[in-house]
Amino acid sequence: MGLLTRCDQTTYKQGELLYVKFCSNCHAEDGKGLKALIPPLAGADYLKQHQDELACIIKYGISSKIKVNGVEFEQPMPGVPQLSDFEITNIINYINQAWGNDYGYVKIAYVRKSLKVCDK
Ligand code: HEC
Repeated sequence: MGLLTRCDQTTYKQGELLYVKFCSNCHAEDGKGLKALIPPLAGADYLKQHQDELACIIKYGISSKIKVNGVEFEQPMPGVPQLSDFEITNIINYINQAWGNDYGYVKIAYVRKSLKVCDK
């Protein structure tokens, strides 16, 4: 096992723990969400297509009407503003590769750039 592999696994592990703590009560541990109320993250086209918005969604939430896999959602999602940039990066990298998702890997610099839109 190479160093990079082990490092990646630690990243996913922290991301998974944070996901379970801050996200899974709504989006479910299997990422399937809850019917018409909570959109799925597993296999979600929205997640795949809005990578540059994820950091702001996780930190500050989202309340606009959105469409995920053809279904409209408009329940507000609260953010988790106390998360560090590093933790947000790990959560994104976890949800991008969990449940069969294959949505790529983001670096902390990308997350910091994305946050410029919403950080005050
Ligand atoms: C209180 C319930 C709740 C919690 C906790 C929550 N979400 Fe959400 N999430 C929602 C709802 C509801 C929406 C839809 C918001 C809208 O319609 O504007 C959403 C939308 C999203 C979206 C965009 C749509 C999609 O399915 O791709 C992503 C990505 C997301 N959430 C990720 C997360 C992550 C990561 C966490 C944990 C840091 C989290 N959410 C915590 C309820 C929640």
